[in-house]
Amino acid sequence: MKGIILAGGKNSRLKPLTNAITKQLLPIYNKPMIYYPLSTLMLAGIKDILIISNPENIELIKKLLKDGSELGINISYEIQKKPEGIAQALKIGKEFINKKPVTLILGDNLFFGSEMGSNIKKAIKQNTGATIFAYNVYDPSMYGVVKISKNNKPLSIIEKPKKFISNYAVTGLYIYDENVSDYTSKIKKSKRNELEITDINKLYLRKNKLKVQILNRGSTWLDMGTFDLLSDASDFVKTIEKRQGFMISCPEEIAWRNSWINKEKLLKISKKYKNNYGLYLRKLINLDEN
Ligand code: G1P
Repeated sequence: MKGIILAGGKNSRLKPLTNAITKQLLPIYNKPMIYYPLSTLMLAGIKDILIISNPENIELIKKLLKDGSELGINISYEIQKKPEGIAQALKIGKEFINKKPVTLILGDNLFFGSEMGSNIKKAIKQNTGATIFAYNVYDPSMYGVVKISKNNKPLSIIEKPKKFISNYAVTGLYIYDENVSDYTSKIKKSKRNELEITDINKLYLRKNKLKVQILNRGSTWLDMGTFDLLSDASDFVKTIEKRQGFMISCPEEIAWRNSWINKEKLLKISKKYKNNYGLYLRKLINLDEN
């Protein structure tokens, strides 16, 4: 399975924070935002990852994550010249996708919860068309929203519905089969001048090939695209990490737990950080020895 992280967009809701830098590089407590979606893909066992961003920011992201080899993964990069919607990522990534199944995640989405990685892995295995993940939110109006039947079948999806249809927001994590590029070529720009991911999902729905996986109330999904959500995400990560002593979405830890890097490599990375981040990585190795 291949993975794409879309780290583009207009970033308009976070200006002036994003005047000089893309939101996906802003700090969420102790990590750059993009570590969170990257970790989600890695937890799902995905090692072949394409990152898409605009020309200026792609260089900064490259500086941060390089070719991924430090994490035992393979990261490549493509440029999004103009932000024209989430589905545009599938167009830009057409060669990378190369008629294979792909998981797309938005660069400002944070997923957390027990079994999150294995649940996504399972959904990838069982996917036969497209799989989306729905999460109950108090105010769904700013999201794609899915209405589902009693036995969890999707009935309809609407992007930012004006009238209430359901509390289930469609999260920014999408699993597609090898046909996604064909579907992508069929959609047209929406009224907000974007290629909507919701339109791709609707095509799968029409063919009866869309599955909805509900993220239960014990799991956490946050998007980090507004001032409040950005700050909430930092508070959330800080609270859980301080309480448990485990980090949320630490790519080096995940790489090591997945056996993609060995102890020596983890130790080497840890030495770059003369702070609590480095200490955490070193502690992991000691825990392993006890
Ligand atoms: C996008 C999608 C929407 C989805 C949301 C998740 O919204 O269009 O369907 O629910 O991401 O973060 P946007 O960020 O474009 O407003």
